[in-house]
Amino acid sequence: MKPVVIIGCGDIGLRVARLYRDKGASISGMVREDEKAQHLTSLGISPLVANLDDPESLTHLPLNGAQVFYFAPPPGGGFSDPRMRRLLESIPAGQEPAKIVYISTSGVYGDCGDAIVTEQTPANPQTSRARRRFDAENTLLGWGKDRGVAAVILRVTGIYGPGRLPVARLTEGHPLLREEECKPTNRIHAEDLARVCVAAMEKAEAGEIFNVCDGQGGTMTQYFLAVADALGLPHPQQISLEEARKVMAPLMISYLTESRRMDNRKMLTRLGITLKYPTLEQGLKASLSED
Ligand SMILES: NC(=O)c1ccc[n+]([C@@H]2O[C@H](COP(=O)([O-])OP(=O)(O)OC[C@H]3O[C@@H](n4cnc5c(N)ncnc54)[C@H](OP(=O)(O)O)[C@@H]3O)[C@@H](O)[C@H]2O)c1
Repeated sequence: MKPVVIIGCGDIGLRVARLYRDKGASISGMVREDEKAQHLTSLGISPLVANLDDPESLTHLPLNGAQVFYFAPPPGGGFSDPRMRRLLESIPAGQEPAKIVYISTSGVYGDCGDAIVTEQTPANPQTSRARRRFDAENTLLGWGKDRGVAAVILRVTGIYGPGRLPVARLTEGHPLLREEECKPTNRIHAEDLARVCVAAMEKAEAGEIFNVCDGQGGTMTQYFLAVADALGLPHPQQISLEEARKVMAPLMISYLTESRRMDNRKMLTRLGITLKYPTLEQGLKASLSED
């Protein structure tokens, strides 16, 4: 099997690495700190200590012929992703990877109202965060075309799972947006996302884009209330959007005011995915038992 390289080996990277370890692949993961490198070594992953903000650290990465997963986020600020550009610029001609799978975000679609969002829905990123992601997508797809490398984009919705539930927000008693004012959002369990990443590496074709979500949908407030119930915590106060704008971070407001009803049929059929956690109830139960 071709070697696997994970650029940005955090939560999803480690999950993908575990799936490949079970297949007996050679796996390398990029991290920025020595402490994290030691952790990777203890898991049987070869650490690549590098920083996408430091071009000199990107020379000699073992990307030639590899199956590359790019999971690092763009830096804050601006409308482009210089990290993606630096990685691609560091790859000499003739030493390209076999394929690159990139985790982007469903945020690139912007606010879609009541429409069902398929991969044919035009991207319309409205926040600077989403514009940076869309820039990364286009940079990668353009580079892949030029260099003959299959690049695949996963437009991922809100990730939840063990260790990544909003426990602090709930215990600290932050208010929620009133259910009646909430827009539809979507989620995916971290373990299912990792399985989708591996399936995309195995089955997706050059330039393909996939929406990634569990298909259940719901609102952010429903999600927080379900987590509160699962943890036995009291329901937070619900406030109007007008009040929320005064007390919530702009990023949270952008999540709450953009509406997306994501269609995941292409992910299920083209990639042959059977979700382990098709509902929040199942995913939360598993998340809490693992925590
Ligand atoms: N949270 C969501 O709901 C959501 C939704 C859609 C997409 N996503 C995106 O999905 C991707 C994977 O998520 P995740 O949960 O696995 O994230 P994560 O645990 O934060 O992992 C991201 C990895 O990227 C690395 N990284 C960040 N900046 C870097 C740099 N300058 N150079 C090299 N590595 C760098 C981080 O390294 P350090 O450990 O050194 O920080 C970390 O290992 C992320 O890009 C995330 O933004 C998230």
